[in-house]
Amino acid sequence: DYQFPNLTNDFPPLRNDLLLRSARNEQPFDLDHPPIWVMRQAGRYLPEFLAVRKDHSFFTVCRTPALACELTMQPIRRYSGLLDASIIFSDILVVPQAMGMEVQMLGGVGPHFPKPLKSVQDAQERILNRETNVFEELKYVFAAITLTRKTLNGEVPLIGFCAGPWTLFGYMVEGGGSKTWEKVKKWTYNDPESAKAVLRKIAEVSAEYLVGQVQAGAQLLQVFDTNADVLTPTGFNTFILPYLALLPELVKAKLTALSIPIPPMTVFAKGTNAPSQLASLSSIGYSTVGLDWGITPRAAREATGGRVALQGNLDPPVLHTSRESIKREVRELVWGKDGFLTCAKEGLKGGWIVNLGHGITPGVDPVNGMGYFLQRVRAECAKKSAD
Ligand code: CP3
Repeated sequence: DYQFPNLTNDFPPLRNDLLLRSARNEQPFDLDHPPIWVMRQAGRYLPEFLAVRKDHSFFTVCRTPALACELTMQPIRRYSGLLDASIIFSDILVVPQAMGMEVQMLGGVGPHFPKPLKSVQDAQERILNRETNVFEELKYVFAAITLTRKTLNGEVPLIGFCAGPWTLFGYMVEGGGSKTWEKVKKWTYNDPESAKAVLRKIAEVSAEYLVGQVQAGAQLLQVFDTNADVLTPTGFNTFILPYLALLPELVKAKLTALSIPIPPMTVFAKGTNAPSQLASLSSIGYSTVGLDWGITPRAAREATGGRVALQGNLDPPVLHTSRESIKREVRELVWGKDGFLTCAKEGLKGGWIVNLGHGITPGVDPVNGMGYFLQRVRAECAKKSAD
């Protein structure tokens, strides 16, 4: 049966620490190159991914450490030397499953909850009055992390993750994805106090889950708050930000109590490009703020004041275009007048982790899309100036 590893003795030494150094805010020019990884890098654009998924359901893969490890390793093997991080293959929705909710992954539709949260009373009975044994319910993820960290053999660091509480609450109430997120938004207006109670509960379970991932071998933690763009500015301050802030607070307290070093943490809250929102996100205990495609690197640096590293933020559909436009857009990201390295050269402080502004999507060509993107980033970053 699974037990947490000994973090100091059970893993080979890390040979590429660029991700961790950037996340700790080292300047891009102080590194051999800025680290790069891609959200959803293990995914349906890879034929080898589809070959595994053909024989196993989505959550079977998540629950089978050998398969989750294999999918995590696929992009690392294919793009050997061009990717600087791996992210454990799993999903944010394993947390509501652990909290007792059934979740199915329907082909062509996405996630489906047969019994979403219907009312305050429902939430009281099914969520607030229930204890979740995080280790027992999610040890399959911990086992996958430990196995993958060993399999990586120190090549690149392994990222663990969970969702932002607001994003999970949305799925739990709507029962799946939604265009308007009307049901969960209505809940915040009709009964803000019970929404906050559920968000707190989700945050507590998620924090325990993140701590378990570190105990299992995760070397950086990312929080995906994909639905952070759906509320008003007041809603953001009331239902999103406090619960994003609770995660690093609880994680740090628990890890400190366990005498385990605190890994860097990244918050990716999509659609929060207002300067005041980025300023808030850079001041709640995360070391890196992930950006979507809706802001220039310069504006994001100005809003975050050099307090954090930035991650991002090429527009994902660029990878579906031609080599010519991938080359042009990467050059703009790096050396445009507001680009990441242009700003770094001007003395704006802060680390940079290269990524897309959201996940890579099915249909990207693994060679001429993703592969070429990785090559162009490396080539542009090897230059010392725009020309
Ligand atoms: O980044 C990685 O490679 C790690 C794996 C990962 C997955 N989901 C695998 C996955 C991560 C980090 C996630 C996070 C996730 N899951 C988010 C937040 C990030 C984001 O992209 O917005 C959200 C909102 C989910 C919920 C979820 N899971 C949705 C909405 C879907 C359907 C997506 C679709 O396009 O159909 C999933 C399924 C899912 N999770 C897939 C993968 C590779 C594809 C499903 C499949 O293999 O059949």
